[in-house]
Amino acid sequence: MTPPDRESLFRDFQAQLAQTQTPESVTELRVAWVGRKGQLTLLLRELGQISVDERKTLGPLLNSLKNDIESALTQREKSLTKVVREKALESDRFDITLPGSTPSLGRIHPLSQVMDSLVTIFRSLGFVVADGPEMESEFHNFEALNVPADHPARDMQDTFYLETGPKQLALPHVDRGASHETVLLRTHTSPVQVRIMQNYTPPIAVVVPGRVYRHEAQDATHSAVFHQMEGLLVDKDLSFSDLKGTLARFAQLFFGPEARTRFRPSFFPFTEPSAEMDVYFERPGRAPEWIEIMGSGMVHPNVLRSVGLDPQVYSGFAFGMGIERLAMIKHGVDDLRLFQENDVRFLRQF
Ligand code: DAH
Repeated sequence: MTPPDRESLFRDFQAQLAQTQTPESVTELRVAWVGRKGQLTLLLRELGQISVDERKTLGPLLNSLKNDIESALTQREKSLTKVVREKALESDRFDITLPGSTPSLGRIHPLSQVMDSLVTIFRSLGFVVADGPEMESEFHNFEALNVPADHPARDMQDTFYLETGPKQLALPHVDRGASHETVLLRTHTSPVQVRIMQNYTPPIAVVVPGRVYRHEAQDATHSAVFHQMEGLLVDKDLSFSDLKGTLARFAQLFFGPEARTRFRPSFFPFTEPSAEMDVYFERPGRAPEWIEIMGSGMVHPNVLRSVGLDPQVYSGFAFGMGIERLAMIKHGVDDLRLFQENDVRFLRQF
């Protein structure tokens, strides 16, 4: 064995070590020098084949070289690992002087806004808010409202009938008299009139905001699910002028003090006489026009009778309006599907 030159070996190694830039390349260098087939490992292995005398001088020499190489590798590895970590921290640095990101606040849906303002207005006029089930009995939705089974109004308010029978007897809000068996999704908020009159003694003044259903193809002005607000006032000696005064006042509070209203004769099975209320609009870019905003009328004597009130003693008026329709008129929206799609670019405008 030719005695290796310790100094030049170490210089070789140091030159290679200086080239390393990453902890991984240090590992490669470690393998190349002191790995199983590393340069120095092979030299050390040759020691077994030389004379005892030679081994005495070469052994310690190569072993000290091995120690020096290993500690140099370890140190280099440590410092490169540190550099890597510092670079990572550097790029990850949190700049506290950057402007913060503003959390985006949600807002009340335009339909809820309209409902809220309707409720606020009618509260100021002395009404209280009532509620009723969306899964309704045929009795409350139609019969008690003077719409018998063969009445054409049933076709105009076709809805979704739910399975009936003993399975559903657990529904607490559905009356289970012989004629009350069929369950449906309510087509309007008017059945709550019946529920209120069944449960409270006049004077009654309620408004009922809520969701209603019709078997209807969806388009820009129709939807199978929409919202209404019902109103009912029952007392003694109420007249049509009470109805007109109340609703005209409502229109001013909702649309502004200039709002003009008119009543047109109409027909609803549960009111007599019945009227449609229109509001006069002058909108930019459009010819001024009267727009229908709700149905109304004096509560039909048959409805009062169906809840056990004597039409000779009590009278009442009722009204019902579509929330989507009011929101469309108020905000100039021409497609009600926009209210359901919940695209924030649309919702953000209200
Ligand atoms: N329930 C009617 C509908 O959905 C609206 C309506 C008209 C309600 C007249 C009323 C009323 O209370 O008096 O078309």
